[in-house]
Amino acid sequence: MTSKPLFRVLAPLAPAVADATVQIWFNDQPLDVPGGRSVAAALLAAGVQRFRATPVTGAPRGPYCMMGACFECLVEIDGVPSRKSCLVTVQDGMRIHSQEGARDLPFDADQASPHATQENAHGR
Ligand code: FES
Repeated sequence: MTSKPLFRVLAPLAPAVADATVQIWFNDQPLDVPGGRSVAAALLAAGVQRFRATPVTGAPRGPYCMMGACFECLVEIDGVPSRKSCLVTVQDGMRIHSQEGARDLPFDADQASPHATQENAHGR
């Protein structure tokens, strides 16, 4: 499966129609992206193609359906992992990171048995 996005930016909108540009951070790099659209659309418009890596092989992935059905666009947004970037509206100042592999499950000490270790399923 290719990770090259199937989407491309069509003709630029007229200035009166275009949304204001917002500044976001993707993997700690500042990006000026068009506002008023999803995080996925904004990142694609800025040339980002790799949104996440698969948990098993680390293969690169990018948005596929752009409607919340495929999970290929998962990223971490403002510290919250596994956000579907195609369903979140981009906001000025967002801090976005590509999602690398499997997410850790939050460890809940109150729920753990006395024999449980503080490692998750990935040994971290
Ligand atoms: S692109 Fe398919 S869920 Fe976001």
